[in-house]
Amino acid sequence: LQRVTLFRTKDGRLRCHQEMSTNPIDEFKQRYRGELMAFEKLVTSVDDLHEISGYAHDHFEQGGGALKVKITNSGKRSLSCGLAHELKYYFLGSGSIYRLEAYAKSQNMNIDEYIDFLKDNLKYVFELGEMKVLVGKEDLTAELHKAHISELASKMAKEKKLRDKLYVLQRNFNRSPGLVAEGRDMGTVVFPEAEIKFFLVSDIQIRAERRLAQLKEMGIKRDIEDEMKQLKQRDHRDESRETSPLIP
Ligand code: DC
Repeated sequence: LQRVTLFRTKDGRLRCHQEMSTNPIDEFKQRYRGELMAFEKLVTSVDDLHEISGYAHDHFEQGGGALKVKITNSGKRSLSCGLAHELKYYFLGSGSIYRLEAYAKSQNMNIDEYIDFLKDNLKYVFELGEMKVLVGKEDLTAELHKAHISELASKMAKEKKLRDKLYVLQRNFNRSPGLVAEGRDMGTVVFPEAEIKFFLVSDIQIRAERRLAQLKEMGIKRDIEDEMKQLKQRDHRDESRETSPLIP
């Protein structure tokens, strides 16, 4: 994807300016049949997301169609969880749903029973600028980000049967007054009716550095080259799979 800028003209209307003529964006436009309206912004705080939401609000007021927003260099989990926290909305971190299944498998638990259990016992909280995953009273955040769980989750996420079961669990999070759902297929498969869809992209090195810092806090040491290699492999697997691939 390349840069698409949404800007406001002097008469207050929103216009879309595109600075590209290469393939990825054509493909992107084809997928959305010309509905594309997006802007790119460096987001580092929830305030930045509020600003985007402000634009989005105006855009809808003026009868605009689906709005896609590309955001660079941000931590998707903390941003989206922080936004939910600010709005007092429910939050769904869908990556952790797959990670929890990997965790259950690694503990030889019965997956179907565990999914059932999660329906009433999985909660997200926003604490010190981070998303935390609680199952019952247990904080599983650190456990879920161990390397073997990341690997297994990415492999299990390819299974259509499992995705179908998790679809129901995820839809269950859609409660009043609203939901912020984070994850690859949130806007395409699980909540296609979502009003605002943010598409976050970030540089692989920055992602690896962020992961290393998180792991360090958890007392886990990892080499940056290894982390980048693993991230690339997982991205490739997530983008090229048949069911719910990672697409804007
Ligand atoms: O976002 P994450 O790294 O926590 O996600 C963990 C794995 O789960 C990732 O390898 C792909 C998978 N996943 C998915 O298939 N669909 C989602 N909506 C979210 C995550």
